[in-house]
Amino acid sequence: MIEFTDDQKKAIAAAQEKFTDLKDKVDSLSDDQLNLLFGEARSMNGWQDKDVSDDTLNQLYSLTKMGPTSTNCCPARFIFIKSDEQKKLIKEALLPNNVDKCMTAPVIAIIGYDLDFSDHMGKLFPHMDVAPMYKGNPDMNLSTAFRNSSLQGAYMMMVARAIGLDCGPMSGFNNDLVDEIFFKDTNIKSNFLCCLGYGDPSKIFMRLPRFEFDEVCKII
Ligand SMILES: Cc1cc2nc3c(=O)[nH]c(=O)nc-3n(C[C@H](O)[C@H](O)[C@H](O)COP(=O)(O)O)c2cc1C
Repeated sequence: MIEFTDDQKKAIAAAQEKFTDLKDKVDSLSDDQLNLLFGEARSMNGWQDKDVSDDTLNQLYSLTKMGPTSTNCCPARFIFIKSDEQKKLIKEALLPNNVDKCMTAPVIAIIGYDLDFSDHMGKLFPHMDVAPMYKGNPDMNLSTAFRNSSLQGAYMMMVARAIGLDCGPMSGFNNDLVDEIFFKDTNIKSNFLCCLGYGDPSKIFMRLPRFEFDEVCKII
C-alpha cells in the first residue's frame, strides 16, 4: 500500500476533478476527427513544400509526452531533423527506396529509446522506488524501453495528425549507423523514423487491406 503525502493527496483530488470536468464536457471525437486520426488518414510518401515551425514541433511534443507509459518511464527520446546538413548525415543510413521520401520531408523525426531511462524515475515516479527493478534486469529494461518508446512514437504520430500534420513512418534504415551518428556516447538507441510535414496527396498509394474484427479479435 502506497502512503501518499498530504501534497500528493491534494494533487490526486485536483487531477480527479480535472478529469471529471473534461468527461462532462466531451466524451468522443466527431466522425471527421476520427477519420483525420485513423479512418481516412494515410502514411505519406511525398510532401508539400511547406515548413513545419519549431513552435509546431513543441506543440507536437507537449501532447505526445502525455501519452501513458509503464511506471510513467517515458523512455522515448526525439530528434527532429530540419537542417539540410543533418539530413545529409541520415541519408547514408536509409534504404534506397526511402531516400527521396525522407529527403523531401520538412522534418525527419528519430524516435529513440534511452536505456538509462530508469535514472529519471525519481522525477517521473516519485512515490515508489522502481529504478532497481529496471537496473537489475537488462531484459526487462530493454523490453520496457522498446515497448514504451514504440508507444510514444505512435502517440506522436496520432498527435501529429490531430494538429494537421501528416506522417511517414519508417523502419527501413540502418539503426546502428543512425545510433553512431546521432546518439554517439549515449545509451540511446534508435527505434524508428517518422517523416513529418504536410503530405502531398498525389503520392499516396492505394489503401492496403486490414484484418476484420473476427480475423484477429476475440471477445472472451
Ligand atoms: C514502424 C513503421 C515502419 C515503416 N517503414 C516503412 C519504410 O521503411 N518505408 C516505407 O515506405 N514505408 C514504411 N512504413 C509505412 C507502411 O508501409 C504503411 O504505414 C502501411 O502500409 C499502411 O499505410 P496507410 O497508413 O497509408 O494505410 C512503415 C510504417 C510503420 C508504422
